Amino acid sequence: MAVAAHTRAVSLLVVALSVLGLATGGLAQLKSGFYTGKCGGNDVETIVQGLVKARVARDIPIVAQLLRLQFHECTVNGCDGGLLIDGPGTEKTASPNLSVKGYDLIAAIKTELEKRCPGVVSCSDIEILATRDAVALAGGQRYAVRTGRRDRRRSSATDVRLPGAEDTATQTTSYFGGLGFDQLETVVLLGAHTVGVTHCSKIKKTRLYSYGGKAGATDPNLHLDDAQVYKQYVCPNTATSDNNILYLDVQSSVAKLDNSYYKRLQGRHGVLSVDQNLYANGTSTKWHVDRLANTNDFYWLFPKALVKLSEIKVLTGTQGEVRRVCNKFN
Ligand code: HEM
Repeated sequence: MAVAAHTRAVSLLVVALSVLGLATGGLAQLKSGFYTGKCGGNDVETIVQGLVKARVARDIPIVAQLLRLQFHECTVNGCDGGLLIDGPGTEKTASPNLSVKGYDLIAAIKTELEKRCPGVVSCSDIEILATRDAVALAGGQRYAVRTGRRDRRRSSATDVRLPGAEDTATQTTSYFGGLGFDQLETVVLLGAHTVGVTHCSKIKKTRLYSYGGKAGATDPNLHLDDAQVYKQYVCPNTATSDNNILYLDVQSSVAKLDNSYYKRLQGRHGVLSVDQNLYANGTSTKWHVDRLANTNDFYWLFPKALVKLSEIKVLTGTQGEVRRVCNKFN
């Protein structure tokens, strides 16, 4: 009887600890400065920052690429390095991920860190630290991130469920709601579209040439001037224009993290439907767009939302592994 009671008490304790994320890993084990004193005499965060800075100096688009990488990484099974794995059928091969870039920088940082302290710094932490540094270099606010993530030994294209470029505000808020973000946080995250680019293929059919499935129809939610410029110069109705590039926010420079995205939505200049839909009449997201356009709140809310994104379903403690190279399991 006493043994059974003891066993039950131990199981209850394990369950309680697991719920708190303390038993075998989990959120509770992420901490600021996790790598302090763990990489010889090297400061891991300073090394990452130096490499990101050097890259941004010669390749501004990397800022947007890293932000998108963090989004596609963290919303699929958590921030676990799963997106970085090469090979048939991995997350990287899923169609929304085919245009994700920035892998080479993560790999270069990993190579440098492996030289200094092999097997210590996880690929998932490198992704989060590098994005944090890129944001600060692009005029965003510098923010602290907790580290200690471990890399998952799973990466499957079948796990990839990302939102679509034509999603309505309701679909977008419900997707991010499922990940624990409220409506304001969701609208803030989409503000990442103030940097970077998209391709004509993402708007040709749906916004320029057959809106609502009607041949020749243009999306009335797209500013007339934009529609004209896109049709005439950037995305002509030819098969070869699909890969032509459009700035997601032409007003901001290619890598300036400001709130101009929201001002663009107010003027019907959103490039992707998913962006402009946040400002559709009758949506509750419209109010948040106005707030972010008319105040400086984006500057402090964006880092907060990125930190929250960076802590989704992380592995810590003895879970997963610390990969030796980021594109292969150990
Ligand atoms: C409903 C949610 C979202 C949808 C449907 C969406 C969709 C897209 C699409 C279709 C593109 C263009 C891809 C291409 O043409 O190759 C793109 C680019 C981008 N997305 Fe999103 N996105 C969403 C949320 C986010 C979030 C939360 C972030 C980051 C926090 C983000 C960051 C970016 C960045 C920075 C780019 C530009 C990438 C580059 O220049 O290489 N997106 N997104």
